[in-house]
Formats: sequence, C-alpha cells, structure tokens
Amino acid sequence: MSEPVFLTVDQGVAVLTIDNPPVNALSRAVIDGLIAQLEVFAANDALAGLVINGRGRTFVAGGEIADFERPDFSSQKLNAFLIRLEAQERPVVAALHGTTLGGGVELALACHHRIAAQGTKFGLPEIKLGLIPGSHGTQRLPRLVGLSAATDMIMTGKTIGTDEALTLGLIDGIVDADRLTAAAIAQVHALAGKAPRRCSALPLPEAAPDALAALEARAGQPGQPAYDAALTAMTAARDLPFAEGIEVEMRAFEALVPTQASRAQRYLFFAERAATRIPGLDKQTAPRGIATVGVLGIGTMGAGIALAAAMAGYPVTLVEADGEALDRGMQKVQDTLDALVRRGRLDETAARACRERMTAAVGLDALGAVDLVIEAVFEDMDLKCGIAGSLGKVCKPRAIIATNTSTLDVDAIAAASGRAGDVIGTHFFSPAHIMKLLEIVRGAETAPEVLRGVMDFARRIGKTVVVSGVCYGFIGNRMAEVYMRESEAMQLEGATPGEIDGVAENPDVWGMAMGPSRMLDMAGIDVGARTVIEWIKSGAGPRDPSYRILCREMFASGLHGQKTGQGYYRYEGRKALPNPDAHELAEHLAAQFGIEREQAPNAAEIFERLLFPMVNEAARILEEGIAYRGSDIDVVWANGYGFPRWRGGPLFMADEIGLRTVVDRLDHYAETFGNPRGYWDVSPLLRHLADIGGRLSEWTDQSKQQRAQG
Ligand SMILES: NC(=O)c1ccc[n+]([C@@H]2O[C@H](COP(=O)([O-])OP(=O)(O)OC[C@H]3O[C@@H](n4cnc5c(N)ncnc54)[C@H](O)[C@@H]3O)[C@@H](O)[C@H]2O)c1
Repeated sequence: MSEPVFLTVDQGVAVLTIDNPPVNALSRAVIDGLIAQLEVFAANDALAGLVINGRGRTFVAGGEIADFERPDFSSQKLNAFLIRLEAQERPVVAALHGTTLGGGVELALACHHRIAAQGTKFGLPEIKLGLIPGSHGTQRLPRLVGLSAATDMIMTGKTIGTDEALTLGLIDGIVDADRLTAAAIAQVHALAGKAPRRCSALPLPEAAPDALAALEARAGQPGQPAYDAALTAMTAARDLPFAEGIEVEMRAFEALVPTQASRAQRYLFFAERAATRIPGLDKQTAPRGIATVGVLGIGTMGAGIALAAAMAGYPVTLVEADGEALDRGMQKVQDTLDALVRRGRLDETAARACRERMTAAVGLDALGAVDLVIEAVFEDMDLKCGIAGSLGKVCKPRAIIATNTSTLDVDAIAAASGRAGDVIGTHFFSPAHIMKLLEIVRGAETAPEVLRGVMDFARRIGKTVVVSGVCYGFIGNRMAEVYMRESEAMQLEGATPGEIDGVAENPDVWGMAMGPSRMLDMAGIDVGARTVIEWIKSGAGPRDPSYRILCREMFASGLHGQKTGQGYYRYEGRKALPNPDAHELAEHLAAQFGIEREQAPNAAEIFERLLFPMVNEAARILEEGIAYRGSDIDVVWANGYGFPRWRGGPLFMADEIGLRTVVDRLDHYAETFGNPRGYWDVSPLLRHLADIGGRLSEWTDQSKQQRAQG
C-alpha cells in the first residue's frame, strides 16, 4: 500500500500530498501521515515553506465518518496537528480543488494562504450529520470571513463556489486547475520572510448585531441538538479568545457525536450509499446506455419527470394521446420552469436551455427512437398494459420501457409489453423534479443491464435510489397503506385528523413533516382512494368492508383534499382548519360499522398505532426480499415521505425504542381489539429480532441467507 501522505520537494518548497482515494478523507492514517511529514518539514530549514494538496479528483472532502462510530474516537490528535501547522513560521499554502468539505476546509483554514482551482466547491456540511465542525472550523472561519457568513455556512451546510469563496475571503486566489501546485509554490516564495497570516490571530471582523439571529431561531428545537451546539460555538467565537473558543467547540462537538440525532443522520449517510449496491448484480454488467428520454403522459408526474431529465441535460420527447392534453402538459412544464426561475432556483439561460431540450409530440410513434421511455399515464391496469403492448412494438430494440406506477404489478405490465427484460418500474415522488427519492422497481425479468442503466440515469438526474421488488405499493406505499389504515381507523374511533397529525408532527414524539391526513389532503384523496378501490377490485386487497372506508367515502362525496378546499381538513387558502363535515362522516361511518367512540385513542396509542404496524409491514417486506436491507427502507421514508432524518427512519426509530417494546405493543393491540383480519399478526422476522436483541435497520440480504442456513 502506498503512503496516504507523502512529501516531495519542488523548487525548494515542501509539497505535502494527501493520497487517500476516493476523496482523501482525513482517516487516522492520513492524520498520522500529516503529523509525521510536518515533522520532516520542520526539521529541514532549507525548505522555503510548505504546500498542502490532494491527489486525485479532490482535496480533502471531509473527515472519515466511519471513525466517528469507534468508541475511542477523538478529534484531539487532528486538532493538535492543526495548531502546530498554523504555528509554522515559514509560509504554509493550501492548494485546493474538487470538493473541499468539512475537515478539508478546516485543514485549509489552518494554513496561512489558500489558493483554489477554478470550479472548486467549499462547504462545512457537518450539520447534515447532526454535528458541527469539530476541528476549529467554528472559530477560524468567522475570524476569516466574518460571523454572519461563517454562521450561514455552518448552520446550513451549504456548498459555495470559488467566486463566492473569494468574495468572502475564504480563499485568496483562483487559478486554472493545471497551474494549481505551481501557483501554490510560487505563493510560498512570494510570502517568504513575511509574517504568517494566521486565522486564529485575526481580530473578528465587526459583526452585525443580528449575525446569530437565524441560528438562534433554529436552536432550542427538540431532537436537533446540533443547532444549539452551533449557537454555543458561534457565540464563543464572538465573545472569547481563540484558545478558549476551541475548547468550547471541542466540548460541544464531542457531546454531539453520541446523540441519537447524529447517529441517525450518519446512519442515513451510509444507508444512502449502501442502497446503490445491489446484491447479485455483477459489477461487470455494463449499463444499457441512455442518451435520450421519452415521457408518455404529461400530467402531474410526467411533467416533473420530463423536467428532471431535461434539467440534467437529456433531450426529452414529451408525448400525449391528443393535442389538447399535450398543450395542457406543455403549459404545466412551462409554468413550472417559470416558477423555478421566479424563486431563483434556476437562472433564465438554464431554463431556456432546458425548454429547448424538450420536444412535444402526439402519439406513441414519436417514441420509436429514444433510449428510455417513462410511462406516466393514469393509474389504471388495463390502460398501462395496453400501452406497454404498444410500446413493446414501437420502441427500438434495447430501449428501456419504464413505468411510473405507484402500486400496480410491474411484472404484469412487463409481460404485456412482450419484452419483459426491457421493462422496469421507476417510481418518482411528487413533485418529481424536486423530490430526491426514486424507487426503482426491479421486475422478475428485468435485465441486469437495464437495472444498471436506470440506476446511472437516476444518479445523473440527482436522485437518491432504492431498489424494490414487485408487490402492492413497493416499499414506500405498501407501508404508507398500513399507516393510513390506522389513521383512518382511529378517526372512526373518535380521534380527529388534527389530533393524529399532531402526534406524528410533534418533534418531541416523532417529527414527521406532515401527518397522514395532511399528507393525503395534499396528494389528493381522489388519488389515494382510487388506488385503494383498484386494489380491492383486483381481489388482492383487504376484504374488510370498512377498510379505509373514510377515504373512499370522502372521495365519493367530492372531498378530495386541498384541490377541492375540503378533505380531512377545510382549507382557507393554504391554512388547514378542522372540517366538521369530515368529522361527521367519521361518526356516521362508525355508527354504520358498529365502531365504539366512547374512548378515543390517546396520544400514546396514536403514536404506537401509526408507527408500529408500519414497522411490522417493513419486516414482512424484508422477509419477502422486496427490500434488500432494512436501511433501504429508511432511505425511502427519509427521502420520499418527510420522515425526520434525525430519527433515521421508521426502522432506526423502532430499533431505538426497542423491538421488544414494538412486539409487545403489537401483541397488546391484537389482544385488546381482537385480530379478525390479522392486522396485528407480528412478522416472524420482527419477533425473532426482538427475541435476540437484534436491529431491523441492520438487517441485510446476508443476514437473511445466514438465518436460512441455520
Ligand atoms: N400524483 C402523484 O403524487 C404520483 C406519485 C407517484 C406516482 N404516480 C403515478 O404516476 C402516474 C401518473 O400519475 P399523475 O398523478 O401524473 O396523473 P395525471 O392524471 O396528472 O396525468 C396522467 C396523464 O396521462 C395522460 N394520458 C392518459 N392516457 C394516455 C395515453 N393513452 N397516452 C398518452 N397519455 C395519456 C393524461 O392525459 C394525463 O396528462 C400514475 O401511474 C400514478 O399512480 C403519481
């Protein structure tokens, strides 16, 4: 193995290079190497100064996050090195490129001068892992760029480019990438003999009185202690000398590492990467190439999908059955682009370029030449199968045919195409050009190179992917179905949508972005009800006549949620108010089905009945091999359903509560309510893990094989 840090001499300057692929993370070996090589430099008076750079595609992109999980983790060794580095009398210049993030920025801040290659990105993303910078970033950065700018970077974790970094003073110069090391060496010579400019010694630039206001507003929220820690550290930067400030930072940082919120967010960080590894999919399998895309059905989803592809640079053909629908669809696309420009999310040139990549057409024949067709027509099995048959004939050989169905049997649609190997599910979330999640549904016959091709496409359009097998609702909607079932059952028992959503949205208890009723009102009760009705009609759904009857009846009476101004709530503009009509309907249906309303579920019961059945369903999804790992399921919920990242996802949250408790409470409800429909049957996997003290979030395909073997 080559050394992760090595020192060369160029024009009388020591060049210390970090070589720890893929992203030069500050692992223990890198830190040891930095310490050792700094001593080599310090012992050689003949050298004019020191340049630190990174080999490969980036300078240091952060700390080694896996090291945080070690019981003996400490940032003290690195921090002592940074103090020693900054204390050098000869010039120390950082040569930055790629994505200089987290510990990479902190290392650069301990140098005396910073030069970056054109296009370098900078950020302190620790907050996204429930942490704050722990290697003096909170103390050096404000002294260099001012308290407001430093606080903004630290509390948002945002990434900035070279121009902004130069304006802020984070870097001192920008050069072309091929001149980076040479420019840094020249800078060492230029600075030789001058007093080093040390960030720690700079006086804090005068700060606006409200420099910490935004952070103060975020702090104090339950479940997210990183904001409180950031406030503590930034206040120390403002009020204390550097030597005391770094002590405050260290204590605040070290207290965050073991918190549940940070563990949950680090878990998701790794989970999102693990989700891209597909068991049994040979690394050698070459992806089917996708250079052009077609979208069929330019409704809510089709418009968003077409935009997502076009914004990423793909030429897209948008197709509808007739001219009128096509005009409507293209108008929707244009309106969305205009809104993105208005909100500053896209500049006008990019919006125009995006629009120019789109071609509108009527009829399927226009899709004959594209590499990937994504079908997003109504959720109707006969329609989807008919269309799959036509696409099977129209599409060129080796083109991929994807369906955006949210619940239907992808294998049946694949069979109808006459070329099942080319068919796959791509379940986008609404709005498709914004939501991060893409659930890729791998059919029984989907060819490996088709799966790979679609995964590459997903990465290019910036999606977080999870691969699911075929079943009703796949991973996310199958679990959401159980969640909705209990929400509606509890409404018949006398709890109001406001009470139920209140529990789900309460960050002290849970912290969902939206509770079940608010979510369905937004997505459209018509959309939800139609799915349930189709499911029941297909014979595969529940036979219980009261199953989600509230949603079905609301649909029948025209209460479709936000779009009609009435659903579980009544809307005044966007404001949701209690809807007496919905409450009355629940009462009426309860009487019709003989459901008692004397004692409505309390907050504790609401919480358990929303979360635990969903976790139980997730365990079944794992047993059936629909998901490859427990953590994939959490990735789905954190990226597609507004599950708070700082709780990790439903499985991580259940693991933290304890699976024994989950199982005991499911058994308790089976006993209390009786269990005629089997809703409270505990999945064997869940019971097994509760018995052995295991964790669902750590369950993988291998665990399954090991268990099967004995
Ligand atoms: N709306 C959501 O939140 C959501 C989320 C995920 C997945 N989905 C799925 O996406 C698909 C589309 O849903 P949507 O909400 O965009 O529906 P939508 O009603 O907004 O759009 C459907 C579009 O398909 C077009 N269409 C119908 N038949 C056609 C045909 N024969 N040829 C060409 N175009 C045809 C319609 O004109 C319409 O524009 C469904 O399968 C749905 O289950 C929806």
